[in-house]
Amino acid sequence: RIVYLNGEWLPEGEAKVSIFDRGFLFADAIYEVTAVIGGKLIDYPGHAARLKRSLGELGITSPIDADSLLEVHRQIVARNNLGEGLIYMQISRGPADRDFAFPANPTPTITLFTQEKAILSNPKLETGISVITVPDLRWARRDIKTVQLLYPSMAKTEAMRQNAEDAWLVEDGFVTEASSANAHIVTKEGKLITRSLSTAILHGITRASILDLAHAAGVPTEERAFTPQEAKDAAEAFITSATSFVMPVTRIDGQPVGAGKPGPVTQRLRAAYIEDRC
Ligand code: PDD
Repeated sequence: RIVYLNGEWLPEGEAKVSIFDRGFLFADAIYEVTAVIGGKLIDYPGHAARLKRSLGELGITSPIDADSLLEVHRQIVARNNLGEGLIYMQISRGPADRDFAFPANPTPTITLFTQEKAILSNPKLETGISVITVPDLRWARRDIKTVQLLYPSMAKTEAMRQNAEDAWLVEDGFVTEASSANAHIVTKEGKLITRSLSTAILHGITRASILDLAHAAGVPTEERAFTPQEAKDAAEAFITSATSFVMPVTRIDGQPVGAGKPGPVTQRLRAAYIEDRC
């Protein structure tokens, strides 16, 4: 692969970052993941806007202007001949001698790489995925897309150890989100329920698009928290993210959701997303 590092295009093995980089030492970095379908960037404006917000929340000055960043995204697709998959982009505060306090005038480190991934024809779409519920032990600013991903990695690994595909995180009795996606349910009355925006969850770009598309399709929606029990008793459940779009969840803690197979509202919203955004 050809990757991008601080203004340079390099073979992946030649892109080197300092061991003093604060992204490496303190997880002092933010990231975005943008899907690519047929060489096209999906929902890019939303990802660019959230990137700006994450940087602002942490006081990291962007090392690149918005037009150039879009051009780098387009170029990395072309240089790697990427048809379907994703672009990972990370900006860290940059290298500095180790000290907890932020350095005065850091030079941020920006990296991008691509990954091929079958998003449209993911084999899990047929059955949907199984999730387990685990306590949400992440820090409390989940609205900032930082690279502090150790707990989500632990949760997902535990899910796989239990023969499930993902974990739903639970705080104060309510589902926050999945390990790397937003969590949604559909009630027996056909209403889409998704947690409202706060610092407790990442403000998913796919989540926002799906809410818009639900409104356009006449699917009633309600933004509020739900419990694992309500999810288990729901007609349908699904997750949304740039890397899965809309993925049905058909089992929670071993219990089938609704008919135990991908539901009609979930499938309709997935189709609407692909139709509208791809
Ligand atoms: N994760 N919630 C969390 C905790 C996430 O990590 C993600 C995305 C989402 C969905 O956001 P969006 O729809 O904007 O992708 C929600 C990315 C895909 C990742 O870490 O790979």
